[in-house]
Amino acid sequence: MFRLDHILKENLIASYVVEEGIPCFSPKSEIETAYDKYESIENNIDFYTWLVYGHRPERNVYARVNDLLHEYLKSDGSSIILDVGCGVGRTIYDIAEKYRETHFIGFDYSLNMLQRSKQILIEGGKLLVDLSSSGFQDFDLKCKKLNNVHLVQGSVNELPFKPNSFDVLVNTFLIDRVENVRSAIEQMALVLKPGGLFVLASPLNFQTRENWKYGQTETLVELIKSQGIEIVKSEGGIPHKEVLDARGNFKMWQTLIIWGRKSNPL
Ligand SMILES: C[S@@+](CC[C@H](N)C(=O)[O-])C[C@H]1O[C@@H](n2cnc3c(N)ncnc32)[C@H](O)[C@@H]1O
Repeated sequence: MFRLDHILKENLIASYVVEEGIPCFSPKSEIETAYDKYESIENNIDFYTWLVYGHRPERNVYARVNDLLHEYLKSDGSSIILDVGCGVGRTIYDIAEKYRETHFIGFDYSLNMLQRSKQILIEGGKLLVDLSSSGFQDFDLKCKKLNNVHLVQGSVNELPFKPNSFDVLVNTFLIDRVENVRSAIEQMALVLKPGGLFVLASPLNFQTRENWKYGQTETLVELIKSQGIEIVKSEGGIPHKEVLDARGNFKMWQTLIIWGRKSNPL
């Protein structure tokens, strides 16, 4: 049986609250919840679910990330993978079903997103996705019942895990949204085991002004390298289209994928 305790920092083991069956390490304040788009009603979790699982636009970014994970897991299927900023579970949806010996920890700051992930990846059955407010047809999503997926709430800036806990660390469309990119990269590199695989996918057109300083691939690559990750490759310019509404508006991201291995200590 998988136990979270063995990868949690000792001083944090007793300090989480469980909400909706999900251990929460950094619950948001009421104010933060009210202003966070991943928690708000207007953002519409059903629309987001449709975007990810119903519409499924060009799959190139997620397919590429999945190929990298497959490549690793085919030789070490008993790994533990941390998906930071997992959202509604898009990155691990297919692969967690294929590698049932691997444990996948979906980690996110938003309890709203994690609850949806729980329905889709863990609870099984069908989920009626109500799209009446966005002009699309409702759709039924077939959910999975995967006992190798575990969900944890917290912030990438305060990862509650012990150093060197994970064989693989993946994050997709996260790094452009966090406030402190440097601390996020530091934290993620720390919890990865030496020799472990690091995979990052992010749009290059960062959303916040503050993060434009990391808008250059080289700057981000240098930052990742400075945390002991040996870069295998970075691939830029992968297009990713995100539909915004039923009127046909969309946003086009130019996406970057960087992957590497954490160096072994000397
Ligand atoms: C655009 S979504 C991407 C979700 C998923 N990785 C995907 O590619 O579909 C960004 C996610 O990052 C999460 N997030 C934002 N800030 C975070 C933080 N400080 N720590 C952990 N997750 C965070 C959000 O709650 C949201 O679920």
